[in-house]
Amino acid sequence: MSNVLLIIFLALLFLSIMPQNSDGELEQWCVADVQTPDKELQVALDWACGKGGANCSKIQVNQPCYFPNTVKDHASYAFNNYFQNFKHKGGSCYFKGAAMITELDPSHNSCLYEYFP
Ligand SMILES: *[C@@H]1O[C@H](CO)[C@@H](O)[C@H](O)[C@H]1NC(C)=O
Repeated sequence: MSNVLLIIFLALLFLSIMPQNSDGELEQWCVADVQTPDKELQVALDWACGKGGANCSKIQVNQPCYFPNTVKDHASYAFNNYFQNFKHKGGSCYFKGAAMITELDPSHNSCLYEYFP
């Protein structure tokens, strides 16, 4: 085998053992921190769905994310919708410490938590 072929072979071998996920982006969702009291979550939820600009239509009555009807679940949905929509425009998953990042998709049944790359 010539040196050139050997180098090509080694290069291909190297590429084949590289991680397959080409963009290397970690999928992240934003949810309510389990430690945050409901009172604080409610304030952050109201902000996210109001001035924050999250689309909270899915947590309204008769919509797929209405159940479980808890402040924590509704806040999680709203935080994530806000985060996905605004993470590339200066929005963060913070909400005065009421939120946290997770790498586990929080979607359940027909309630889909958005993920925008
Ligand atoms: C909010 O989301 C719903 C469904 O997910 C969609 O039908 C609606 O157009 C959205 N509203 C805005 C203002 O983007």
